[in-house]
Amino acid sequence: MVKARKYIYHSHFDGLPKETDLKLVEEELPPLQDGEFLTEAVFLSVDPYMRSRASGVDLGSTYIGSQVAKVIESRNPKHPKGEHLVGRFGWRSHTICDSKSDFWVVPDLEDLPLSYSLGVLGMPGNTAYFGFLEICQPKPGQTVVVTGAGGAVGSIVCQIARIKGCTVIAIAGSEEKIKWLSNDLKFEHVLSYKDDDFGAKLEQVTPEGVDCYFDNVGGEVTSVVLTRMNEFGRIAVCGAVSGYNNDFSVKASPIQYLMIRKQLRMEGFNVYRWQALWFEGIAQNKKWLEEGKLQYRETLTEGFANMVQAFINMLSGRNVGKAVVKA
Ligand SMILES: NC(=O)c1ccc[n+]([C@@H]2O[C@H](COP(=O)([O-])OP(=O)(O)OC[C@H]3O[C@@H](n4cnc5c(N)ncnc54)[C@H](OP(=O)(O)O)[C@@H]3O)[C@@H](O)[C@H]2O)c1
Repeated sequence: MVKARKYIYHSHFDGLPKETDLKLVEEELPPLQDGEFLTEAVFLSVDPYMRSRASGVDLGSTYIGSQVAKVIESRNPKHPKGEHLVGRFGWRSHTICDSKSDFWVVPDLEDLPLSYSLGVLGMPGNTAYFGFLEICQPKPGQTVVVTGAGGAVGSIVCQIARIKGCTVIAIAGSEEKIKWLSNDLKFEHVLSYKDDDFGAKLEQVTPEGVDCYFDNVGGEVTSVVLTRMNEFGRIAVCGAVSGYNNDFSVKASPIQYLMIRKQLRMEGFNVYRWQALWFEGIAQNKKWLEEGKLQYRETLTEGFANMVQAFINMLSGRNVGKAVVKA
């Protein structure tokens, strides 16, 4: 008999989540039936959507999330023992699956770490790859602004923009992210949205305006960036993390006015729009990693018991790159 550990949604988040909002419990799993297989979490992801989508989660149910899991027992010949997959199984240590469960099999990563499947070679990497290239349509020589630039999605967008020959303006909050973007990733224009003179600094580094904006944060920062857009600019509306802890009640911004005046095209997207091309994104990002054109960083928290703290840290900006938990 296998005992799974899982986090259940215990009390509604109010602002930044608290340790006591999620509760770690045990669940006895039944023996496998024909066609089923048992997986064990190896790495678990903590992502901003886990906060923004909390209102759709019932109290008492397993909390939403993805993990890299290993098949440890199988009565399904298509998914043998030892196979690794990325599954949307929630915050749990062990899961009984069948072929219809919500997962994809990890492709051959050669020497790259398995945890990359939750980041640059998984959902966040594909969000950057498809969201930026398809919606922003960047051209060499153009100016691209990226918010959330030191995180899982933003750090990849910045580097793809550079690969495509664009001038990149990276915007982040924590000092560690700013240092990583400037000193290690060698971006020339790295701004902190927390600076009092953020607007003036943005104006200084965008003398020819902004052609593409990849927006991870929304709110007031976005209102400032919009004032720098060129006519017919393209905006990928990827996320609005600045509003997630206060249920999106951010200050009103002059978005519509600027959209009309500058004839901007702004498009929100969900990465699963490109589900049919999923492995194309992974293959291209893997190639860029191997060629040294993409650099990748993770903030790893050890232990399933520390998941809630890892989640809170990520929402508070204490991750650099992708936040991952090692089970
Ligand atoms: N559309 C899609 O399909 C899709 C898919 C994946 C992700 N997303 C979105 O993409 C965005 C980035 O996700 P990620 O996984 O890469 O997360 P991440 O950037 O690795 O982590 C979240 C970061 O958000 C920043 N942040 C927190 N509060 C903020 C605020 N008030 N203003 C500005 N920044 C704030 C913090 O960094 P600082 O240190 O910079 O403050 C924090 O580290 C999120 O909005 C997410 O919802 C969308």
